[in-house]
Amino acid sequence: MAHTTSADHGIRIDGLRKRYGEGDTAVEALKDVNLTVASGEVVGLIGPSGSGKSTLLKCLGAVVEPTGGRMSVGERVIYDDGWKIGDLRALRRDSIGFIFQAPYLIPFLDVTDNVALLPMLAGRPNAEARARARELLQALDVDHRARAQPSELSGGEQQRVAIARALANRPPVILADEPTAPLDSERALAVMRILHRMASHSGAAIIVVTHDEKIIPTFERIYHIRDGRTYEEQGEGRPLVAAAPDGVSSPAPQHGGPASRRL
Ligand SMILES: Nc1ncnc2c1ncn2[C@@H]1O[C@H](COP(=O)(O)OP(=O)(O)OP(=O)(O)O)[C@@H](O)[C@H]1O
Ligand SMILES: [Mg+2]
Repeated sequence: MAHTTSADHGIRIDGLRKRYGEGDTAVEALKDVNLTVASGEVVGLIGPSGSGKSTLLKCLGAVVEPTGGRMSVGERVIYDDGWKIGDLRALRRDSIGFIFQAPYLIPFLDVTDNVALLPMLAGRPNAEARARARELLQALDVDHRARAQPSELSGGEQQRVAIARALANRPPVILADEPTAPLDSERALAVMRILHRMASHSGAAIIVVTHDEKIIPTFERIYHIRDGRTYEEQGEGRPLVAAAPDGVSSPAPQHGGPASRRL
């Protein structure tokens, strides 16, 4: 079996299944999940509590092992009916930016080093990694807390630092589990602008799990998940227009649009 694919998709999932546990207590969290996200695209993933959204992101992010089906990232098949790529740690580190439902920051590193850690581990010089961290913290409006410890931040600030961390290595796949839940409406839209900018500048394929009514109208394409099965639908694709002159609020470049600022 050749574990490559010729599709130009950033993410492709076919017939994905996940069962937690065995016997009487088994939970069929994913029964038949099918989705594609093109390189440079941001799609929404919506569904009731317990419908399998986090499980789907964790399978794709190589945090949880599926029970069956097939997944590929870019040109590479990463899972095929029990077969999986050898180096999951390298896949997670180099290809996946994961924004978890709860922001897991490293408690003994300050805000800047939480964001700079992954670029440093990937071999970037410390000064360059910290400069990248500052740039993202500024774009997410949390740079005034750059030297603080995570325990000294508000919930929304912690979430913005976790978002900066997930974007620091410019991963080709970004998986965001309710990234805007603790944020006010302007900051929620600012996060969406940054994600769109990552998609159009570095060709990232992005999935955003959300219940957030503020951002749902911004998706051009949405997958609904119900009872472990996905259904695709057209979104409104409302433009993310500017609000404040703070450097993040210029109109988001839509797919392939001109770059106003490099992130
Ligand atoms: N580690 C686990 N062991 C057993 N069952 C689990 C595990 N994680 C999740 N589940 C079950 O799998 C189903 C899907 O859970 P999942 O966390 O993917 O839902 P979700 O759509 O993300 O929900 P929410 O919107 O509440 O975050 C649920 O029934 C849940 O109880
Ligand atoms: Mg969840």
